[in-house]
Amino acid sequence: MYIKFCRSYGEDKKDEADENLQPKLSVELEGKKGKEPTGGNVRLYRGVCLFLTLMCIVLLVVVIILSLKLQTGPTVCPVVEESATAKEAVPAFAPGCSFENCQAQFPAIHIKHHGCRMCGDGWMTFGRSCFFLSTFRLKWHQSEQNCTSRGGSLAVITSKEVQDFLTQKGNLQYWIGTIKKGTEWTWVDSTKLQESYWAEDPRTGNCGILDSTGPSARNWIRAPCNVATYFICQLQLL
Ligand SMILES: *[C@@H]1O[C@H](CO)[C@@H](O)[C@H](O)[C@H]1NC(C)=O
Repeated sequence: MYIKFCRSYGEDKKDEADENLQPKLSVELEGKKGKEPTGGNVRLYRGVCLFLTLMCIVLLVVVIILSLKLQTGPTVCPVVEESATAKEAVPAFAPGCSFENCQAQFPAIHIKHHGCRMCGDGWMTFGRSCFFLSTFRLKWHQSEQNCTSRGGSLAVITSKEVQDFLTQKGNLQYWIGTIKKGTEWTWVDSTKLQESYWAEDPRTGNCGILDSTGPSARNWIRAPCNVATYFICQLQLL
């Protein structure tokens, strides 16, 4: 548009020059309205041209400012406040800010970025982990597979806090990520079982269950791995 206006302005100028060279035309124009309107048109075109140029510059500046602002502005997820007690580590939901968005924004550093410590739908946040309590039953290995395909693994319980949290949140019997390999109980991440919360009578079997109907201090039981029960997935955010 700018170019068009400027060109037509230029053409007008040429016309004006032509007029001077061709007295006949200029006389004709003079005869009709005189030279005054032509000069007015030139001023008008010049004004429009100037106005559009200024608009272009203003819009360019706006675009630059917006692009800079969008890079560092509201699309960055806010830092989730670390609460004094881990139990209150509830995700602070900011509008338009989800773990998925954050992951998309920070593909390389999403795990370490504080703003990304948010769990997907149906997952609970606790400390630096997300937990998913299933509402359907699978065998131990199927459960582990199901958790893996969700990006996590069966829950690895390495602290009293997590043990208490899962006991409190659940109300069923859940597979957790412990299995007996040879004579030793191991976690799915290949670490050995350190603290454990076996029931007084843990029964027999090679796979571990957290029975959240029992007391948190002693509610792990054993069962054959091909039994179907609920399960707890964990997704570590560190
Ligand atoms: C987990 O298992 C359930 C029940 O078999 C199935 O419907 C679901 O698609 C599985 N989820 C994943 C992510 O594999």
